Amino acid sequence: MKMAMIVAMDEDGFIGRGNELPWKLSSDMARFKELTEADGFNSVIMGRRTWDSLPDSYRPLPERVNIVMSRDTNWEAEGAETALYIGRAIELAYAEGSDECWVIGGSQVYEMFLDRVDEIHVTTVHTSGSGEVRFPEWDRDEWLEEVVERVGSDEKNEYDSTYSIWTRR
Ligand SMILES: NC(=O)c1ccc[n+]([C@@H]2O[C@H](COP(=O)([O-])OP(=O)(O)OC[C@H]3O[C@@H](n4cnc5c(N)ncnc54)[C@H](OP(=O)(O)O)[C@@H]3O)[C@@H](O)[C@H]2O)c1
Repeated sequence: MKMAMIVAMDEDGFIGRGNELPWKLSSDMARFKELTEADGFNSVIMGRRTWDSLPDSYRPLPERVNIVMSRDTNWEAEGAETALYIGRAIELAYAEGSDECWVIGGSQVYEMFLDRVDEIHVTTVHTSGSGEVRFPEWDRDEWLEEVVERVGSDEKNEYDSTYSIWTRR
């Protein structure tokens, strides 16, 4: 089972404002859906705060096993599997027969899984100071970047962005 991470961050590493994404980027949303959903046999792992931030109409994220990290043993939500620790989340994805397991945030959950993933799919949003929630510190020297696509701003994409895949050196 492939373990990957997917994130959109600005040039300062900001990923969230309050409990929301700071920008509207429909090209990034479409890519997120295409990559994480794929052929319908994938899992996504997210933090309870990110689960809370999803609009009702996207919760659970369709065609994906939704695994939510929480320390609250009583937490439950329809369409979500709860995991109290990293190993449990990976075990759930594996037991569901997932081809790929995508770590989709937020900050706390990215930090927990940074040393568990083989790839980080980063959309760099070409702006700065977007919020107060950041992607955790990571040593980019240990990773190799392949730039895949640049998308210009337009009426559906608030800022220019660059999509890259980072793999371990
Ligand atoms: N730009 C992007 O790509 C992107 C992607 C996703 C999210 N975001 C943004 O990121 C922000 C949310 O990030 P966040 O860091 O505040 O929250 P988060 O990582 O989504 O969720 C945090 C929650 O995860 C649970 N958790 C944390 N550590 C745990 C552990 N060791 N074991 C078990 N459960 C644990 C806790 O849930 P309990 O409190 O229930 O115990 C904690 O409150 C929002 O602004 C969101 O919009 C951005």
